[in-house]
Amino acid sequence: MSFIEELKKRKSDVDEAITHMFQKEKAHPLWGHMAYYPEAGGKKLRPFLAMITAAAFGEDEDKAIPYGVAIELVHNFTLVHDDIMDKDEKRRGRKTLHKKIGEPRAINAGDGLFALAFKKLVEIDVEGETLRRLLDELSTSVVKVAEGQEEDISFEGSYEISEEDFIEMIEKKTSYLFRAATRGGAIIGGGDEKQVEEMGEYARKMGIAFQIQDDYLDLIGEEDKIGKDVGSDIKEGKRTLMVIKSLNELPSDDKERLIEILEEEENTDVEVREAIGLLEKAGAIEYSRELAEEYAQQAKEHLRLIPDGEHKDILEGLVDYIISRDK
Ligand code: IPE
Ligand code: IPE
Ligand code: MG
Ligand code: MG
Ligand code: MG
Repeated sequence: MSFIEELKKRKSDVDEAITHMFQKEKAHPLWGHMAYYPEAGGKKLRPFLAMITAAAFGEDEDKAIPYGVAIELVHNFTLVHDDIMDKDEKRRGRKTLHKKIGEPRAINAGDGLFALAFKKLVEIDVEGETLRRLLDELSTSVVKVAEGQEEDISFEGSYEISEEDFIEMIEKKTSYLFRAATRGGAIIGGGDEKQVEEMGEYARKMGIAFQIQDDYLDLIGEEDKIGKDVGSDIKEGKRTLMVIKSLNELPSDDKERLIEILEEEENTDVEVREAIGLLEKAGAIEYSRELAEEYAQQAKEHLRLIPDGEHKDILEGLVDYIISRDK
C-alpha cells in the first residue's frame, strides 16, 4: 500500500471522532466557528503519526485516536491564530476564519479549540500516570509553538537572522507538535525512555524538513493544491531559509531590491515573481531543497529502535512524502 493510501485509511476514523465532538453542540454559534477549520479537512498527519507510532510499539493503533485528535485540535487552534498573525486570507481552500467572522471572534474560536483538545485528551483509555505524561507532552509542545511563533514574528524586519536561528524557530513552531505526536504515540504504545526519545528526534528532524517544504510550496506551489495563497511569505516579509540564504549570497544591488520587496506593505504578483527570481539566482531554492533532504535522511536514522515491519516502513514513507508533497 502506498503512503497516501495508508494515510487515507486512518483519516476517516479521525474525521469521525472530530465531527462527533462538534455535532452535539453546534447549535451555539461559537461551535460553528470552532468547527470551521476542522470540517475543511487537512492532511491529519499528526493523529496519523500518533497512531502509527503506538502501533509500531505493539499497541492497537485506535487507542491513540483520542490523543491524536487532541493534537489535531491544538493544530487547528494554532492555524486560526497563525492566520491572524500572518494576515492570511485563505486556508484549506476557503476564506480564513478571521476574514469570515472578524479577528475578535476568530481569536475566541481558537481559544475554544484549544480547550476542547484537552477535553478530548482525558477520554483516552490509559492509566493515570500515562495520562499525566501525555498531558505533559501536549502542554509542553503548545508553549514551544508559542515561542516559535513569537520568534517567527520578531524575525520579520530583521537582517541579523542566521540559518541556525531559523532552524531553532521552526523546530519550535512546527516540529514540536509532530514531536508530541510521536512521543505520545510511543508512550501509549509502551515504548521505553530511549524509544520515546528517539521517536521525538525522528519528529524533530522530520518537522524541520516539513516546514522547509511548506515554505517552498508557499513560493512554488499551486493555490488549488495547497489551499492557501501563494507568495504570502514574501508579502509578509517572512525570514524563510531561502530568504536568509539569499540575503547572504546576493550581490548588493540584488540584495537591496529583495529587501525593498520584503519591506513593502503591499506586493504585486509581479514583485513576488521578481523576488522568487532573486532567490533562484542566489541558489537559495536549490539549497533549501537539499537541506530538507538532509533532515529527512537524518529523521529516518532515528527509526533504528523500531522493530522492522510495516509500521517502520510507513514512518520512512512519511518522510519521503513530506519532502515531495505538493499540498
Ligand atoms: C500547516 O500544517 C502548518 C504548518 C506547520 C506549516 P499542515 O500542512 O499539516 O496543515 P493541514 O492540517 O494539512 O491543513
Ligand atoms: C506554521 O507556519 C506554524 C504554525 C501554524 C504554528 P506557517 O505560518 O508557515 O504555516 P502556514 O503556511 O500558514 O500553514
Ligand atoms: Mg501562516
Ligand atoms: Mg506563520
Ligand atoms: Mg507557510
